[in-house]
Amino acid sequence: MRVHVADHPLITHKLTVLRDKNTPSPIFRSLVEELMTLLAYEGTRGVRVEDVTVQTPVSEARGVQISDPKPLVVPILRAGLGMLEGMVKLLPTAEVGFLGMARNEETLQPATYAERLPDDLSDRQCFVLDPMLATGGSLIAAIQFLFDRGAVDVTAICILAAPEGLAAVEKALEGREVTIVLGAVDDKLDEHGYIVPGLGDAGDRLYGLV
Ligand code: URA
Repeated sequence: MRVHVADHPLITHKLTVLRDKNTPSPIFRSLVEELMTLLAYEGTRGVRVEDVTVQTPVSEARGVQISDPKPLVVPILRAGLGMLEGMVKLLPTAEVGFLGMARNEETLQPATYAERLPDDLSDRQCFVLDPMLATGGSLIAAIQFLFDRGAVDVTAICILAAPEGLAAVEKALEGREVTIVLGAVDDKLDEHGYIVPGLGDAGDRLYGLV
């Protein structure tokens, strides 16, 4: 597994405003989108391309285009939805699938409650969007779900991670073709599973308390 922390002053600046509890929802939403475009730039370094030749007004030029099958972007509901626009702005030809994950309060294990994905992901490059890598439970389940459908390489893009969650993902997906791209790694998880210092509940801050 590869972990890449996108260390750039613009990312840290936007992240700082996101963390501020006084940042209202509309600004929070547009900042997540902007931040996501920057993280998507980092996260798509490994996007598969193929060689093409085009004709410029002057001569032939060799270049690349994104290969088929097109990448699949999978936001994890609900907070991952806030990251989708920023991602597809940069990768407009990607297809989008959806995965809803929630914790089963009896087993405390993440369970899939909604899914709209191709049945066969063989040879697909997948990009999972989940803003907060906290315990890692839902991200591990989501990535595992994609591998079970045949995906070959998965990049997860998260805004923040806790070291505990990163370690859990690393342990669970050891040896798999996984890249995690992050805005920052914070200090720790608190006893309620919140990232510290974090930014609070990303879903609530994006969409309100519902
Ligand atoms: N999910 C969130 O939205 N925030 C956290 O701090 C942890 C998980």
